[in-house]
Amino acid sequence: MLHDPNHLYIFDTTLRDGEQVPGCQLTTIEKIEIAKDLERLGVDIIEAGFPVSSPGDFQSVVELSKAVDDVIICALTRANKNDIDVAADALKYANRPRIHTGIGSSDMHIQYKFNSTREEILERAVAAVKHAKSYVEDVEFYAEDAGRADLAYLAQMIEAVIAAGATVVNIPDTNGYCLPDQYGAKIKYLTEHVKNIDQAIISAHCHNDLGLATANSIAAVQNGARQVECTINGIGERAGNTSLEEVAMILKVHNQSFGNLSSNIDSTMFTYISRKVSDMMNMPVQPNKAIVGRNAFAHSSGIHQDGFLKHRENYEIIRPEDVGLEEADIILTARSGRHALKHHLERLGYHLDKETLANTYERFLIIADAKKDINDEDLLSLVK
Ligand code: KIV
Ligand code: ZN
Repeated sequence: MLHDPNHLYIFDTTLRDGEQVPGCQLTTIEKIEIAKDLERLGVDIIEAGFPVSSPGDFQSVVELSKAVDDVIICALTRANKNDIDVAADALKYANRPRIHTGIGSSDMHIQYKFNSTREEILERAVAAVKHAKSYVEDVEFYAEDAGRADLAYLAQMIEAVIAAGATVVNIPDTNGYCLPDQYGAKIKYLTEHVKNIDQAIISAHCHNDLGLATANSIAAVQNGARQVECTINGIGERAGNTSLEEVAMILKVHNQSFGNLSSNIDSTMFTYISRKVSDMMNMPVQPNKAIVGRNAFAHSSGIHQDGFLKHRENYEIIRPEDVGLEEADIILTARSGRHALKHHLERLGYHLDKETLANTYERFLIIADAKKDINDEDLLSLVK
C-alpha cells in the first residue's frame, strides 16, 4: 500500500475502542449511521470492531463493510490464527479491508499477561502478521503497551513485523503513561533505528489517563507519525482516547508547523457529529471540552466579552463556523460588562443611549447577582 508522506491519516476508532466503554454500546444500525457520518467527515480509516469478540461485533463489521465504499474498514484481532480468520471473514465485503493485529510489547504484558518471553512474543507477532497478510494487503500491527516497552526490543519487534508485511505500525500508549516528550522521542527512535521503517507508516494510539492523549499524539506527528488513532469526543477505555476533533483543529490552526500536512477532515461537521455520538452513546460531553464542549465558544467574563466585541480575534483562535457552530456565545452573568449588555439589547432591537444603558446596567446587575442564567425575557423586563 502506498502512503502519502505529506498526509496525516485519521484512523477513527469510535466504533471499536470508543464503543468498549460501559453503557456506550450501539446497535449495528446505529453503527452504520455513524460510519456514514465518519465517511462524510473525511476520516481515512474506520475501525469497525473486534469480530471475534461477539456475533454482534462480527455482524457490525460485515454490515459496515457493505455500507461504506471509500474509507478503509479495519477489524481488530489478537495475534492468533482464529481471530485473524474471523476478522478476514467479517471483512469479506469491504472494498478496502485492513486487519489490525498485535500483541503486548512491554515486559509487564509479556510476563504478567502472556506469561511468556520476549523471543516467543516476537515469533507470535511475526506469525500473526504473515497470517493476516495471506488475506489482505493492508495489515496494521499494534505493539500493545508500547508506551512502557523497552525501546530496543520495541524497535526489533517493529522491524520484524514490517519485514513480515505490516504496512502500518501502531505504537500504542495503552495506559496513557507517557509524557509528550517521551512519546515523541519513542517515535523518533523508531524512525532512526528501524531499518525498514520507510516501508510502513507509524501510527499513534494514545489513551488519556493523565490527560495527555492529544498532546502525545501531536508529539508523535512532530516526530514522524503519519497516522493518528482517535475517537469522536475522545471517548474510549477509562479516561478515553485521543480526541479526533482536537487533533484535526490543532493541525488546522498550526498547519505550517506541521509542514502543511494534508487531511481530508471537514471540521464544519464537528458540532453535529459530536452531539450525535454523545446522544447515541449516552455519553455527555463535558462543557469545557475543547472544540465541541458547550462552553468552547462561550465568553462570559466582562473583560473577555469587551475584548471579543471590539475584535473577535482578541479571544478567538478558531472561528465557531469552522466547527459548525453559527456564532460564539456572549453569556450574560454578573461578571458581564456594559458592552455585553448593549450587544444583547441591540440583538433584541433596543438601542439605548449612554445614560439609559448605564441605568439599565445597574438594574441588570441586581438580577444577574440573583440568577445564574439571564435570558431574553429578563432583558426585555429591564427595558420595557
Ligand atoms: O490501547 C491499545 O493498546 C489498543 C490496541 C488494541 C490497539 O486499543
Ligand atoms: Zn486503545
